[in-house]
Amino acid sequence: MKPKVLITRKILAEALDYLQEHTDSEIGPTDRSLTKQEIIEKIGDKEGLLSLLVDTIDKEVLDSAQSLKIIANCAVGYNNIDIEEAKKRGILVTNTPGVLTETTADLTWALIFAVARRIPEADKFTRDKKFKGWELDLFLGKEVTGKRLGIIGMGRIGRAVALRAQAFNLETVYSDPHRLSPKDEMKFKASSLPLEELLSTSDIITIHAALTPQTFHLLSSEKLRLIKKEAILINASRGPIVDEMALAEALEKGQIWGAGLDVYEREPEIEEKLLSLDNVVLLPHIGSATYETRLKMAMMAARNLVQGLKEERPDNLVPW
Ligand code: GLV
Repeated sequence: MKPKVLITRKILAEALDYLQEHTDSEIGPTDRSLTKQEIIEKIGDKEGLLSLLVDTIDKEVLDSAQSLKIIANCAVGYNNIDIEEAKKRGILVTNTPGVLTETTADLTWALIFAVARRIPEADKFTRDKKFKGWELDLFLGKEVTGKRLGIIGMGRIGRAVALRAQAFNLETVYSDPHRLSPKDEMKFKASSLPLEELLSTSDIITIHAALTPQTFHLLSSEKLRLIKKEAILINASRGPIVDEMALAEALEKGQIWGAGLDVYEREPEIEEKLLSLDNVVLLPHIGSATYETRLKMAMMAARNLVQGLKEERPDNLVPW
């Protein structure tokens, strides 16, 4: 008999075929995520769970899971899962690291340029048939080449962002509790700075940290005040790392020149004030959204799940 698994939402066909070959799977809807209550109702007899980053897998959910052996999260971040509670129950947790690094670093750069060169505003202007001819001061943006880039969180994605910065001749600084080796500092042409100094001296600041109790509101209103008035802030990691309300106020008052956000504090809700500001580019959490990468993520999560169910050590175990 194949092990019973719950897949919280329909995933890409190849991954679904693989899971259906190896498991007896119950699949959530195509057009929406399951509510927490629905997960609670369905999880009881399942041995495996394939979750997405929008699914909250907390104590309450785990309390209703009688047979669960493994949770395969289809994301590199796993702040949606209570790891401590999973550990207490001996439930393995896996994620999808590595496969989305380059894609997310690319999106970060797309956001940097979209903000710096005011691409969405200029696109709207053109579609609205307002383009009446070349003007010397039409949509003046910010130079990117040669500026100082501050990376908060120098893990895989932060480092991939740093490598791309070399092509634009930026000076890269980073802040991370784990300092890179001298060899890696050379390779990524990045020097370590305390967070406060990074914030007060960088022209472009980009966040690539994991969301943990330590990084919640890491960019609080006090920290946001350290950012230069002419600077750009990018967040393509997790929304709650930035105090979103304080950021909206800073952007509105012109205390920060511009921002690019792919993530929000209370997704899918977005601070109302942000929606009316021209100096922020807003994306719907699409950092890893290319067909190739999402397929790799789904296949990686599916394989992790099947490995765990076969009592093999999954490739991408999250440390308990
Ligand atoms: C995306 O946000 C991920 O964590 O994979």
